[in-house]
Amino acid sequence: MNDRPIVLGLETSCDETAAALLRGPEEVLGHIILSQDIHELYGGVVPELAARAHIRTVTEVVDAALEEAGLEIDQVDLYAATAGPGLIGALLVGLNWAKGAAYAAQKPLIPVHHMEAHLFAVSLEERDAEPPFIGLLVSGGHTMLLWVPEWGEYELLGETRDDAVGEAFDKVAQILGLGYPGGPEIERIAKAGDPTAFHFPRPLLAGNQREGEPDYYDFSYSGLKTAVFNQVRRLEERAELEGAVADLAASFQAAAVDLLVAKTMRAVESLDCQRVVLGGGVAASRELRTKLAAALGPEGELYYPAPRLATDNAAMVARAALFHYDRGVVAPLDLTARADLPFPGLERRS
Ligand code: KG4
Ligand code: ZN
Repeated sequence: MNDRPIVLGLETSCDETAAALLRGPEEVLGHIILSQDIHELYGGVVPELAARAHIRTVTEVVDAALEEAGLEIDQVDLYAATAGPGLIGALLVGLNWAKGAAYAAQKPLIPVHHMEAHLFAVSLEERDAEPPFIGLLVSGGHTMLLWVPEWGEYELLGETRDDAVGEAFDKVAQILGLGYPGGPEIERIAKAGDPTAFHFPRPLLAGNQREGEPDYYDFSYSGLKTAVFNQVRRLEERAELEGAVADLAASFQAAAVDLLVAKTMRAVESLDCQRVVLGGGVAASRELRTKLAAALGPEGELYYPAPRLATDNAAMVARAALFHYDRGVVAPLDLTARADLPFPGLERRS
């Protein structure tokens, strides 16, 4: 195989059907993301509908990516697909498509962990987004703070104790009557609001916490979400909600982001590492980028993915697959998807 193999990546873990073609670790030749808008009607992803929509569109999405790349399917050297975590029915669509294609072409298939793929996303465009770094993975399903001394070696510093940060954005948006997904909606409406109008809690952030204590690096979003809900109810009773939506969005966003920034800065200081890499849908948040960049100061190096690489996409899947392929990982034919797939190489910091 040539030294810059062509990888076809597939991503179907949630509500985006995505395919991408990558040549070597950096050259994205084709990149298609089809977002399923059916879920907007329900204010959240409906698993069965997601799986059915993937089945309907996956072949079209792959064809569109091949066309964008100017490639034929028989030029693909490696197949890659997200094997988990995610919605099981949705995952199976992409993984089985890749499996069938790999088997037919007698080419290797590489399974990919969705969150590890998010961690690789920035490196597609930024040469210096390489370990060692502090990784902050923030999505609709996960909130993880990692120490990454090398690719493939991940030390879990902290994670959420309850809701993921993206999930909190989505639920708060729903109660405020905004659309789905909630993050971009909250960001948009918060621009007209005052972030100090309401003081929402910043959980697990007591100043007397010490490194080594269980919650030092962990996150919690369920209390913050409830605090917003209670405030909404009080305003509703006084018929004052309508005029307060922008202030509520801005105050919630400030609290959610402050927690991410504070915990990340704890890691920056303890590990004496100034390089921070963001991944996942919430990495698209301007508030997060701006506040983290300010906290890191001029010495800091902050890397975040371009919008098309922040949310779910298949280029990051192909990139992570290439890393594992170079280390000899190839899937057996009985490989299946797992909703709770463990993060490869992840260890909790003791
Ligand atoms: O990584 P992703 O596309 O899918 C998952 O793996 O979950 O992340 C989606 C999440 C959603 O919860 C969405 O509301 C959030 O990312 N998100 C944002 C922003 N853009 C997307 N959250 C805050 N601010 C944003 N600008
Ligand atoms: Zn994701």
